[in-house]
Amino acid sequence: MKEQAIGIFDSGLGGLTVWKELKLLLPHESFIYFADRARCPYGPKRKNTIQRFSDEITNFLLQQNCKLIVVACNTATSAAIKFLRAKYDVPFIGIEPAIKPAAIRSETGKIGILATRGTINGELFKTTSKKFADHLEVIVQYGDGLVTLVEANAMQEQKTEDLLRRYINPMLEKGVDHIVLGCTHYPFLTPIIESIVQGKATIINPAPAVARQTKKVLKQKKLLRSKNPAPYNHFYSSNELPHLASMLQALAMDLPEATTQYFEHYQLTKLPK
Ligand code: DGL
Repeated sequence: MKEQAIGIFDSGLGGLTVWKELKLLLPHESFIYFADRARCPYGPKRKNTIQRFSDEITNFLLQQNCKLIVVACNTATSAAIKFLRAKYDVPFIGIEPAIKPAAIRSETGKIGILATRGTINGELFKTTSKKFADHLEVIVQYGDGLVTLVEANAMQEQKTEDLLRRYINPMLEKGVDHIVLGCTHYPFLTPIIESIVQGKATIINPAPAVARQTKKVLKQKKLLRSKNPAPYNHFYSSNELPHLASMLQALAMDLPEATTQYFEHYQLTKLPK
């Protein structure tokens, strides 16, 4: 059981920002990543549709023998994690906008949340906001269009920067001192976001906390993998993965191991829709 891989899924490549943190914290673990690129974005879709997609992907990951599943998508966590936990015995780790740390650290009493429509309008977000940020002004902004731009590897394009300015400047004008990235695609945009924010607010990415929680659960359940044999990383998608290599390279720049080492282990497989 310990030797089995950790499953990770997202509507696309955004969850790679979570995979990176998992890999850094759990270097001996094997990972199977599923990107549902054929049906991306999830943000504008209905809750029961996202539940069905998440169910199908979970089934696939369990067929691959995964010992734990990380739902590396805020939108899918919001729409489906309750449903998945009720249906399957395997442990699930989800991700949600990091309202709590932003609320604790805020000095202006104003925090900004950038997330998809599905996440912001979901029950989970309402409950968490009420619990941790009821005393604060929470400025929410739908990140419409950003997921599609990241999937198209358009992080460096002017239109991406223009859209981000439209979303972030109003938050800064209102005086937020923390901006929470409530979608796993957005950390790919951190360099542009930082250039817009210019130190006026702290940007929070909850992915490292998800990795810590995953490690805690694996430890509790005695599922941590030993060092040998060497772990593997398999990537699957419901559609072509044209930008995977450059997206991984963008992430691997921050990783201690050489990029080429990663590529040796990659096994790309296209699944039927
Ligand atoms: N990465 C997903 C999230 O964290 C993107 C959702 C979408 O596909 O719209 O919410």
